[in-house]
Amino acid sequence: MLCMADLRVSYLGLSLDNPVVVSSSSLTNTAEKVAACAKAGAGAVVLKSLFEEEIEAEIAETARDSVEHTEAADYIRELQTGAGLKRYADVIRGAKGAVSIPVIASINAVSSNWWEAHVPRLESAGADALELNISLMPYDYHKDDEEVAAFYVKTVEAVRKLVSIPIAVKIGHYFSSIPALVDKLKWAGADAVVLFNRFYRVDIDTDSLTLTSASPMSSPEEIALPIRWISLMYGREEVELAASSGIHDGKGVAKVLLAGAQVAQVCTTLYRNGLDRIGVIKGDLEVWMDAKGFASIDDMRGRLSRKMSDRPETYERLQYVKALVGWE
Ligand SMILES: Cc1cc2nc3c(=O)[nH]c(=O)nc-3n(C[C@H](O)[C@H](O)[C@H](O)COP(=O)(O)O)c2cc1C
Repeated sequence: MLCMADLRVSYLGLSLDNPVVVSSSSLTNTAEKVAACAKAGAGAVVLKSLFEEEIEAEIAETARDSVEHTEAADYIRELQTGAGLKRYADVIRGAKGAVSIPVIASINAVSSNWWEAHVPRLESAGADALELNISLMPYDYHKDDEEVAAFYVKTVEAVRKLVSIPIAVKIGHYFSSIPALVDKLKWAGADAVVLFNRFYRVDIDTDSLTLTSASPMSSPEEIALPIRWISLMYGREEVELAASSGIHDGKGVAKVLLAGAQVAQVCTTLYRNGLDRIGVIKGDLEVWMDAKGFASIDDMRGRLSRKMSDRPETYERLQYVKALVGWE
């Protein structure tokens, strides 16, 4: 059977050949790796995040080996930050020179506004859009929901004033009201919200009685999170929703698009199966779309969202009540 499905999508005002985006990770930390993603058929790539912590660590290392004099230390700080940013800008420039798919830069914002002054350099290096990887660990007993949300909003507002390229904001799911936050981010200037980042996870080693790190890789079951929130929020005007977490195959991409995602970001499945997986995912998606009679992605997007449902209450269900869901 001849495949007719049209996989083209727009995301952040950019034209993508298909909705499969390689998400921010070490799969995208050099121009060569970005070129390999494009060759494998990715619709777009998000570069590995530029982390404040990494640059700070480099600064601390140099400062320890050299001087304590404040002026000199300030000078070193400036040089190191400049060097870190130059390296990142070089990756953007190299990637843009090597591929024709959109290249989205990513910057991690955790605390201070050190990065604010540098964001314009990412735009002038040629990034097509910026993904703000904002991550605050909400462990503080004295910081309530509003304060945490205010940090996100303030960050987006600041960046919005500094660049004219589109901005996506990538968030985790530790919020008491995700729709309220998404709305605030939209008003602050975000063009898209990526749901969800998957943070460093901890585990406990019961033999050595130590805290350890859990695997950074996701399982396909984790797709339930983006499906839940994207299907609930699809249709809110002026903000696109991108899915990340647990998308491992063509059916996974189909699911998040049906929920209402603009694009599907993939990571773990590429670490596990190699970049050729992108072609397999796209092929499976096309075959599935043909079988279901969907001619284009726009045709299917949001079909299973709350907005398009005649039983919207099913999207609001939180508890397993035996009488409703049939589990003994
Ligand atoms: C090894 C590794 C490195 C990652 N680095 C970043 C990063 O620099 N910035 C970021 O926003 N997300 C980063 N992520 C998160 C991924 O982009 C993605 O959101 C997450 O893994 C969930 O997608 P998945 O289920 O397809 O793996 C990283 C994930 C992994 C596994």
